[in-house]
Amino acid sequence: MNIDGTHYRSLWYNHDDDVLEIIDQRWLPHKLVIQPVATLEEFAAAIVEMRVRGAPLIGATAAYGVALAMKLDPSDSALDQVCAFLSKTRPTAINLQWALNRCRTHLAPLSVSDRAAAALQLAHDIADEDVEINHKIGEHGLALIKEIQARKKPGETINVLTHCNAGWIATVDRGTATSPMYLAHDAGIPIHVWVGETRPRNQGALTAWELGSHGVPHTYITDNAGGHLMQRGQVDMVIVGVDRATRSGDICNKIGTYLKALSARDNNVPFYAALPSPTIDWTVRDGVSEIPIEQRNAREATHIWGRNSTGEVNEVQLTPDGTPGGNPAFDVTPARLVTGLITERGVTGASEDDLLGLFPEFKEAV
Ligand code: MRU
Repeated sequence: MNIDGTHYRSLWYNHDDDVLEIIDQRWLPHKLVIQPVATLEEFAAAIVEMRVRGAPLIGATAAYGVALAMKLDPSDSALDQVCAFLSKTRPTAINLQWALNRCRTHLAPLSVSDRAAAALQLAHDIADEDVEINHKIGEHGLALIKEIQARKKPGETINVLTHCNAGWIATVDRGTATSPMYLAHDAGIPIHVWVGETRPRNQGALTAWELGSHGVPHTYITDNAGGHLMQRGQVDMVIVGVDRATRSGDICNKIGTYLKALSARDNNVPFYAALPSPTIDWTVRDGVSEIPIEQRNAREATHIWGRNSTGEVNEVQLTPDGTPGGNPAFDVTPARLVTGLITERGVTGASEDDLLGLFPEFKEAV
């Protein structure tokens, strides 16, 4: 993505200083803060505190964490320890476990002297593959947008609703749910995006920042406005990202996604989930009972961060002192509410048969 004409990924390796650099997303969209991540504790904190966030980006970050660990100590026990340590940072997005498993499977058979270089190369590969996957998701999603365009009058705007940030900064680059939107805009298709704020952490503000930087027309709305807009025919399709999909096509995503899917079904609005294959947990069938839902600090619900009129970024309290808060961070949308899954191998139905049709190599993985 370009910021003021400069292309950035969400993370990159600084070969001069031999260190990973990230954009600290806690300060976005108000400040662009770039930070080195130099110790294993900093890697864990970056994920836990959501300096990096979004399922694919968490996975890529963890792979660089393993690379650092292997540079410090390439022994078997250090490999086990770093994987166990980083796997505890966030529970819901499966890309974290996917990346750590891939690192372990790739590195464990190697000789100790080869591990540091191999781990760093693998982290680069995971990051590069993410960008490539997201480009393909964009192309498949673009075909869906073109189908909707074909049913509209020439020049009529296509209104897409999204929730949370499944954008460039939730991935290494391009995003998942936003990837088709960028391609549609670049192709001259008149697209407009309804961006749900996504309380409590307001990842919608990140999406608005991204879309604005790319020149994509968009409108920031409260979370509660989505159903109303769908009832009035002001949404042509919904595209959201995913933190963990089951092999049967349930999708777990940021809290509030389920309500969007219910509204979409009630109003005959197609509801698509965009996901790279590392987001599919092939060991799980029932999302509601089997996917662990992250419970975050209640302070995220009772307080809010923003920029005041003097330009300072500050937190303010919304509720009376001592109000008990609850903060489940994700919810599960059952497959029956999902019109289709946009993957790097194409768009498919949200069912086990359909998913295995695209990914037959996972038939036995349950
Ligand atoms: O808690 P977050 O901000 O990490 O949650 C992010 C989401 O829910 C995204 O929609 C999801 O990770 C898909 S990112 C391509």
